[in-house]
Amino acid sequence: MIFDRVKPLEAILATAEAKGLRRSLGAIQLMLFGIGCVIGTGIFVLTAAGAQKAGPGLMLAFAIAGAVCIIAALCYSEIASMIPVAGSAYTYSYASLGELVAWTVGWALIMEYAVAAAAVSVGWSGYFTGTILNEFLGVTLPPWLSAGPLAFGGAAGGLINLPALVIAVLVTWLLIIGTSESAKVNAVLVAIKVVALTVFVIITLPQVEVQRFNPFLPAGIFGGFGTGTGAVGAAATIFFAYVGFDAVSTAAEETRNPQRNVPIGLVGSLLFCTVFYILVAAGAIGTIGGQPIMGPGGIPFPAGSEELARQCAMPIHAARLVCSDEALAHVLRQLGFSTFGNLMGIAAFLALPSVILVLLFGQTRIFFVMSRDGLLPDALSKVHPKWGTPHVVTMITGAFVAIAAAFFPVGQLADISNAGTLYAFGMVAVAVLLLRRRRPDQERKFRVPFVWVVAPLTIAGCLFLFLNLPVAAMLMLPGWSALGLLFYFLYGRRRSHLAQGMIQVPESEIGTLEPDIPGIADRNRP
Ligand code: ALA
Repeated sequence: MIFDRVKPLEAILATAEAKGLRRSLGAIQLMLFGIGCVIGTGIFVLTAAGAQKAGPGLMLAFAIAGAVCIIAALCYSEIASMIPVAGSAYTYSYASLGELVAWTVGWALIMEYAVAAAAVSVGWSGYFTGTILNEFLGVTLPPWLSAGPLAFGGAAGGLINLPALVIAVLVTWLLIIGTSESAKVNAVLVAIKVVALTVFVIITLPQVEVQRFNPFLPAGIFGGFGTGTGAVGAAATIFFAYVGFDAVSTAAEETRNPQRNVPIGLVGSLLFCTVFYILVAAGAIGTIGGQPIMGPGGIPFPAGSEELARQCAMPIHAARLVCSDEALAHVLRQLGFSTFGNLMGIAAFLALPSVILVLLFGQTRIFFVMSRDGLLPDALSKVHPKWGTPHVVTMITGAFVAIAAAFFPVGQLADISNAGTLYAFGMVAVAVLLLRRRRPDQERKFRVPFVWVVAPLTIAGCLFLFLNLPVAAMLMLPGWSALGLLFYFLYGRRRSHLAQGMIQVPESEIGTLEPDIPGIADRNRP
């Protein structure tokens, strides 16, 4: 039987028990942490790609993706309050769906975290090149140095995205030497992002011209299977703007009153972001316009493609929202608010690296837990004697992220990341239902209301968004999973600690790494 290796919940909970973290977080701190992880390249950069897919329908796209994330967040709240240990969806699946599925979820989380870190690095590169180099230093980076060469369905027009590569390497280095963002730094960065978006909304909304929203759905609601266009195609891409909230669930163990504060923290930060995102999209599109550049057959040119880059190079299109690499700063500059545009650029320049840090950090911790379970080589969980960090796995992850960031466009990286994330979210909803059946009496500090409606809706929502991704991103999931399964059957299946009867985590490994989630890193220190 290959579905028989379910990790006993008691063994997993023993780990949490042994760590004994203090319950010190309240709803507001969780919300701040959530907003810190969530607001990033999605809104600052992908607004342009989203508009290219859906035009003004991008606002609807934000609402659809936000709704799926909010119901997924309820499922995360229940399972995190029941199994409050590191490893997120991977650990939850191990306790319910068994080792094989858990492995595929852990493997898909590489798509979520590492590929997302690459996407945010590319997003940062746009603001660095446009605002810091161009506006402030007067340096124009040649296009071959500021964009990668690869894109599905054709070339993307550059050779290497040097700034994206450099920021990914820099953040990796910070993680290797043990830099962890403190709660105070996180609060400052959250404030910078929220103030920047608020100022954007205050400047743009009064200048909105209603006719700019017409036609509202230039590419329709469904743009056609596999094209990734239309309002739902844009929702599948812009889903990226909400990714990261699941990292908050890992803090459930340290939350006061988790039955109340975890769902408030998760759902609250998502609701906040949804409203903000819709207002920002309305401000951007309603002022300078956000109609897509249409290709043959009335289908928008794919975001990140060479054809679109060629169209955007033409003077008639150059100033359009869909052509900008720094969408929000571009809107403000077009409206004559150059100083605010530059400040927006600085806000993104300062705040996006912390999103990369959280994502890279999350990735290394998931690898760490998988290797602690014996499914990945021990060498990966080796901790550096001086810095106390899992330097080997961080270096490998960082190299992967830097290469992806150097060669792929942001929109396509985001789509690939979304494919993996949607799979993980869907599996978490399945795990919630399974555990309700199998462990009805196990203590849950939070229970999803109407779980037999909400969890299936979450699964359907994730599947729906997945099926509206561009076909290449969709195919990445089975392709990547096949590679993962090969690795599992060649390596992990035999070495699994669970298979060998070692289900308790050794005392010495408990609590060495997990508590240091960036952004709330100093929460348990005296
Ligand atoms: N949600 C994060 C972002 O938009 C990953 O950058």
